Amino acid sequence: MKTALFSRIRYRCRQVLQAWQPHFSEEELVWADAFLAPEERAVFLEMAPADRRHALDVAHLCHRESGELSPEGQQLLIKAALLHDMGKRNASIGLVHRVLYVLLGSWPVKSQAFHGWPLLGKPLSVLAQHASLGAQEAARRRWTPALVELIQRHHGDCRGERKGTEPEHPEISELLTLLQKADNRC
Ligand SMILES: [Fe+2]
Ligand SMILES: [Fe+2]
Repeated sequence: MKTALFSRIRYRCRQVLQAWQPHFSEEELVWADAFLAPEERAVFLEMAPADRRHALDVAHLCHRESGELSPEGQQLLIKAALLHDMGKRNASIGLVHRVLYVLLGSWPVKSQAFHGWPLLGKPLSVLAQHASLGAQEAARRRWTPALVELIQRHHGDCRGERKGTEPEHPEISELLTLLQKADNRC
């Protein structure tokens, strides 16, 4: 329990530190670009630099760990890694909000305590709900159900309602496990 709490805090602190001065190399941007359709690329570019840096780190790690997947599964995993935090675009989230969110322990119920506070309420609420917000937008954009599900469940704490009749992606469990593991390590 203590170890889980410690690694959670360490993960969040690392994310906060990355928000200071994110750096991108030309090569990795070209690499990432190859996994994204034009609309997905536009969404990725709308993400805050800190979130893009984090997404690239998650994508690199997913790429390294995806050797057992089918080529299609690998493509989908990297795409999901690049877009999984797109829901954070729903507010202007600054370093103060990220730090406060860490201190609050990322618990939605605590973030809700700031509901209605000017400058704090919306960013904290978006941070707490970014997985669902991102999945809802992805569904509105008619992205594949598997990509919507990966965005929805990347924190592993909520399962969105599957819509439509398309069968579940055959590798969805492996994809989710790899995405969640990489996200927790970056
Ligand atoms: Fe996230
Ligand atoms: Fe993330």
